[in-house]
Amino acid sequence: MKRIGILTSGGDSQGMNNAIRAVTRTALANGMTVMAIRNGYQGLLDGDIEEMSLRSVSNILDRGGTILQTARCLEFKEEAGVLKAVQTCKDFGIEGLVVIGGDGSFRGARDMSLHGIPTVAMPGTIDNDIACSDYTIGFDTAVNVAMEAADKLRDTSLSHHRCSVIEVMGRNAGWVAVDVGIAAGATYVLVPEVEFRIEEVIEKMNRGKAAGKKNFMIVCSEGIFADVKKNKNYEYLAGLGITSASKLAKKIEELTDVESRATVLGHIQRGGSPTARDRYIATEMGCRCADLLREGKSNRVVVIRDNKIIDIDIVEALNMTKEFDVARYNIANMVGI
Ligand code: ADP
Ligand code: F6P
Repeated sequence: MKRIGILTSGGDSQGMNNAIRAVTRTALANGMTVMAIRNGYQGLLDGDIEEMSLRSVSNILDRGGTILQTARCLEFKEEAGVLKAVQTCKDFGIEGLVVIGGDGSFRGARDMSLHGIPTVAMPGTIDNDIACSDYTIGFDTAVNVAMEAADKLRDTSLSHHRCSVIEVMGRNAGWVAVDVGIAAGATYVLVPEVEFRIEEVIEKMNRGKAAGKKNFMIVCSEGIFADVKKNKNYEYLAGLGITSASKLAKKIEELTDVESRATVLGHIQRGGSPTARDRYIATEMGCRCADLLREGKSNRVVVIRDNKIIDIDIVEALNMTKEFDVARYNIANMVGI
């Protein structure tokens, strides 16, 4: 394979630039040409493609976001869109593709492979919700960003004897919430995967109050407010009128008499300089992606399992389910008092 394309797709995540750099440098070192495809699969439909050089990826190591930009491209989900994308690859002489994104992007990678363009993928999302991999790039940075914000919120809630309700991202998964809760010392962590009752939260706060505790922190995953099957709490919370972090804060204030404030951290968690962990995992995965294409492999996803970078079939990967780490969740709620 002499000429490959690279794109980032779906929500951006920190570490994507490190992956782009690693793919580019590995491919160039092996005599291949690398074509940058802008805006995810949309770039394949628009022909928004440019050749990369060694210098195209200079000085991006410490930058969040993705220099290739990204998009959610609905047209590509249709057969006609895939065929158009395949034709663009042929027009630009692109013989293989590297896709960096979440499992939606992996479905697109599978489709490109099925239509004769060898494609490999790697997991980039802050949510860490991809079944085939123990880790997704961006997660560590997002957790660190949220932890630093939670530390700051602790300062002010301590001064005011308040309860800080902090909503973190994660889509329908609670991985971000659990790690932020452990790292920032939340009194309670609430996630969509584990059923909880508001009385348990209140009871724990009251026990703390009785022991002289003045400030509290509740870290909740955005997923607890989402009406999806995976969320075990939606109906219960909706029944209580708790449909947002601010409503949760109000309810806590009402039931405990502790003044409460809600903060939704939102997209700030998707920005910032990638941590060392994200940089090196992204780099290792990116190198492996380029190597797989060089070896003529197709329809593979590069993942990390038991601290090893391996590659597996994309269809197999898409059929996997990820079990939530309840033990870790229990630790978060046991050490936070
Ligand atoms: P993520 O990759 O982070 O899961 P999305 O689900 O938004 O994010 O998917 C990113 C892009 O991948 C979509 O905009 C679309 O172009 C492509 N994609 C998503 N789902 C499919 C699918 N079922 N078939 C083909 N392409 C898909
Ligand atoms: O998948 C990453 C993520 O940041 C989720 O945590 C969040 O629910 C979603 O994307 C937000 O999507 P958007 O950037 O489209 O608002």
